Amino acid sequence: MKVVLATVVATAAAALTVASSESGKVEEFGGLSTYISGPADAKAAVILVSDVFGYEPPHLREIADKVGGAGFYGVAPDFFRGSPFVREGGGNISSWLIDHSTEKGFEDAKAVVEALKSKGITKIGGVGFCWGGSVVVKLLTPPLIETGVLIHPSLTTVADIQGIKAPVSILAGEKDTATPVELIRQFETALKAKPEVESWVKIFPGQPHGWALRYDGGNASAVKSAEEAHKDMLEWLHTHLTA
Ligand SMILES: *[C@@H]1O[C@H](CO)[C@@H](O)[C@H](O)[C@H]1NC(C)=O
Ligand SMILES: *[C@@H]1O[C@H](CO)[C@@H](O)[C@H](O)[C@H]1NC(C)=O
Repeated sequence: MKVVLATVVATAAAALTVASSESGKVEEFGGLSTYISGPADAKAAVILVSDVFGYEPPHLREIADKVGGAGFYGVAPDFFRGSPFVREGGGNISSWLIDHSTEKGFEDAKAVVEALKSKGITKIGGVGFCWGGSVVVKLLTPPLIETGVLIHPSLTTVADIQGIKAPVSILAGEKDTATPVELIRQFETALKAKPEVESWVKIFPGQPHGWALRYDGGNASAVKSAEEAHKDMLEWLHTHLTA
């Protein structure tokens, strides 16, 4: 676990360039400050669960805008209540994770699910990046949501994956050192052993941890690969949330 956490920190954040024009807004939702994008009367929603660096712009919000643009009610809550992990200045991921565990994230996510339901939402998908992947696995276990997409998930074991009871897709980077491709293959084997749970695993060649969220917007090849992941994510959500 120690090695995994160190690698998460070492590889998660690439340069965040380019300003974005957001089409959503930040509001209080389910007890958390939340970036919201998409039609207010949508019947299906997608909860975007961030990595340790939080819900600030640009890319997570751009992805929420894509989700909203596709007709879903997209919500990206600030699970860290204003204190995301900050690597600069010698941030200690182990101690940060004690105060920001994925178990705590799951408790907060449950409140978001309840808030969506009380708004009249009937179907919910969860999309989790890195840290958020672990939270979405917890949502898929009872399950409390209809489907999930795990994008370069971390802090997740084969046993966690075995507990999943709703359709799940995993999008992973071939060069991810936080969650190595060998572990992703074990996830895939565990899911294939449960044919009653629909699943789909895709490995993106050459991509490092964080490639679909913390990519350099000025690098055309990085953008292309991230956008391919976003497209796969949207197609999965369409299939499982709009029947
Ligand atoms: C980071 O935090 C953990 C948990 O609080 C602690 O055990 C460890 O010594 C810290 N590491 C550094 C380099 O300060
Ligand atoms: C651009 O991103 C790709 C990953 O898609 C990476 O392999 C390459 O090194 C990056 N190029 C630069 C100049 O950073």
